[in-house]
Amino acid sequence: MPSYIVVGGQWGDEGKGSVIAYLAMKDRPEIIARGGVGTNAGHSVFIHGKKYAVRQLPTGFMQRSARLLVGAGVLVDPEVFFHELEHLKEFDVAGRVGIDSRCAVIEPKHKELDRTNGYLHGKIGTTGSGCGPANADRAMRTARQAKDIRELEPYLTDVAAEINDALDEGKLVLVEGTQGFGLSLYYGSYPYVTSKDTSASAMASDVGIGPTRVDDVIVVFKSFPTRVGAGPFPTEMSLEEAERLGVVEYGTVTGRRRRVGWFDFDFARYSAKVNGATLLAITMLDKYDKEAFGVTDYDKLPKKAREFIEEIEERVRVPVGLIKTGPELEHIIDIRENI
Ligand code: GTP
Ligand code: IMP
Ligand code: MG
Repeated sequence: MPSYIVVGGQWGDEGKGSVIAYLAMKDRPEIIARGGVGTNAGHSVFIHGKKYAVRQLPTGFMQRSARLLVGAGVLVDPEVFFHELEHLKEFDVAGRVGIDSRCAVIEPKHKELDRTNGYLHGKIGTTGSGCGPANADRAMRTARQAKDIRELEPYLTDVAAEINDALDEGKLVLVEGTQGFGLSLYYGSYPYVTSKDTSASAMASDVGIGPTRVDDVIVVFKSFPTRVGAGPFPTEMSLEEAERLGVVEYGTVTGRRRRVGWFDFDFARYSAKVNGATLLAITMLDKYDKEAFGVTDYDKLPKKAREFIEEIEERVRVPVGLIKTGPELEHIIDIRENI
């Protein structure tokens, strides 16, 4: 598997961060590259009881032998970037991080507009991170690029060249997606979507690899999908029901309460199809079946949990290779070898 892409299959916050962190440690990719929109994303990971959240850098930061790259398609907010370098100091990220010099830059005016504009903030319920307005300026060809920002100079690189060269040498490259399929500008519930496509093909383009260079696409689904912001959510449950089931969550970036729903098999099937999924990762299985908490061996899963996984495989028609059963990195069942 020389290159693989991990994307969210629902509305973001599927727990991609924790799946990527596991893969980063287990598979030891030499490059971990981030695609996606920009700092609207929040990925959180639990490492030895401590929570780390990243919005700009790759979530695989804890793998110290990996080069960490941000692809040209991604928006860079220098404030967030430098904050994360500091926040992740203990992982020595500064010496191994690279930003593509062609990334467009989020400026204070973009954040201001994203937070005050009645349509973006009021109707769509954006994250306020400035991504939509910055991508609008990029489409207008007025946005500044990373290479125009003096402070970013030490980190600039050609991500596309680095990744393609690494692949030529047979090195393993992990590409991280952000957001989720339902938030895609093209395939999601427009206009209640983000400012770019979020499918696996977009992630390849974001980091500069052609479709023929992608070996696997892992689509991540959580057992109870969530959605933050406005927009249709056909299987949404009431707040009371979510509380009763103990599945209430709050956003990493905005702190907003996430709307929660039942697993939507038909939606998952369509999402897997357009993403070209070769493998699925299912997270929060312990929320579906409390008895599944912390299980690391598929055969030890309780019957209810196993039946759920089997139903997903049958109805989505893609094998499940990774199953998260708790918040820590090691709370995972890895059955990729059996597929
Ligand atoms: P992405 O945006 O997809 O990366 O997800 P997220 O990081 O935004 O989701 P969230 O902020 O909800 O963070 C996920 C949290 O849930 C992290 O602290 C993970 O360690 C934790 N987590 C991941 N998988 C599981 C799981 O299977 N069960 C439980 N209980 N927690 C999990
Ligand atoms: P924007 O991407 O900030 O413009 O927000 C557009 C929509 O996408 C809003 O509904 C946001 O809540 C949602 N969104 C954007 N990024 C994420 C994410 O990383 N997780 C969950 N929802 C997101
Ligand atoms: Mg998130």
